[in-house]
Amino acid sequence: MLQYIPFKDYKGGKHLYRLWNREFKRSYPISSTLFKERILDDANFDKENSYVALYERMPIGFILIKRWMNEELFYSETKTATISLFFVQKDVRNMGIGKELLNLAMQGLKEYPYIEKVQLGHDLSNLLSGLPSDLNKYAPFFMNQNFKQEEGYVDMIQIVKKDTSQQTVYETPKKIHFRIATEEDKEVILKLCLDNDLLRQTYILKKYFESGGSGRRVVLAYVDDKLIGFVRIYDSKHSSIKVNFFLDKSVGSIGVMAIDKEYLSDNYPERITQEAIHYVMMRGSKKIMIEQTKDVEFYKKLGFKAFKYYMRFVKYLNKEEQN
Ligand SMILES: CC(C)(COP(=O)(O)OP(=O)(O)OC[C@H]1O[C@@H](n2cnc3c(N)ncnc32)[C@H](O)[C@@H]1OP(=O)(O)O)[C@@H](O)C(=O)NCCC(=O)NCCS
Repeated sequence: MLQYIPFKDYKGGKHLYRLWNREFKRSYPISSTLFKERILDDANFDKENSYVALYERMPIGFILIKRWMNEELFYSETKTATISLFFVQKDVRNMGIGKELLNLAMQGLKEYPYIEKVQLGHDLSNLLSGLPSDLNKYAPFFMNQNFKQEEGYVDMIQIVKKDTSQQTVYETPKKIHFRIATEEDKEVILKLCLDNDLLRQTYILKKYFESGGSGRRVVLAYVDDKLIGFVRIYDSKHSSIKVNFFLDKSVGSIGVMAIDKEYLSDNYPERITQEAIHYVMMRGSKKIMIEQTKDVEFYKKLGFKAFKYYMRFVKYLNKEEQN
């Protein structure tokens, strides 16, 4: 018997990543820790509108939804809900199960009038930032379900060379000083984000410090005594979470970046990024990734190459009703 039940009523929920791994263990492995961090423990994980498809009580598919439920006064993304992970077992694909899971989730989300659109991936604590280019044979499914394709995100990578003598050095009008942050820097970092209307960055950094972050993953940039920017860096040490599905321990990455509006030109962003790369290298990473960027030209200048593209699919709820 085929059944669809809300995630909240399904007892085996915390093991659903295993179903995914059966097919995608090599390309997109999801560990129990990663699944817990990015899905189960996320305050925005919507257990009522996420569904599991069961055949003879065994899971054969699921759709995992996120919707804004965090009570943060300064930041919210209430208008956009996210399909965080969507999967139907290979041998039962193209039989209407995915469509039914999606319909159930969409029906639930339509109860919230403030939700304007549903995106595939790319929530604040996402596993995937869209449909990876190597899974593009599933793109027609989303097109047929009235999702619109928008500009996607790119992962870029650079193999770090020991000899940096050939590298362009980006000179800035004023000298920048760099150092690694400590817990005491939390307030000044958040102030920089808020003063520059970088709310998403504020949210991510606030969460980082609140969940015990010491600051060792944040590189600060100062001009005179003023904080003008920061970059969040990731290395494989001290982390049970793999950097973007990479099993390779030598891969580090550069994530959230914020720069004061007054310093967005004159080589300041380039110089700050270069220094962040240097810090990741010093921590033993030999390859450095830029995750989910749209700024391909900027990172190309700094020696990165695009290696993965995520197709972005968005479904607009109101527009669909008008059609
Ligand atoms: C995407 C996915 C969940 C869809 O589930 P599914 O059960 O195969 O989809 P359905 O059988 O419900 O498909 C419904 C409709 O889409 C069409 N469709 C499905 N896959 C298609 C494909 N590859 N190409 C063209 N049409 C497709 C079906 O013909 C059907 O259309 P219709 O009802 O108008 O005739 C499933 O293919 C999957 O698990 N893919 C791998 C994981 C993935 O890419 N997930 C998304 C990122 S997290």
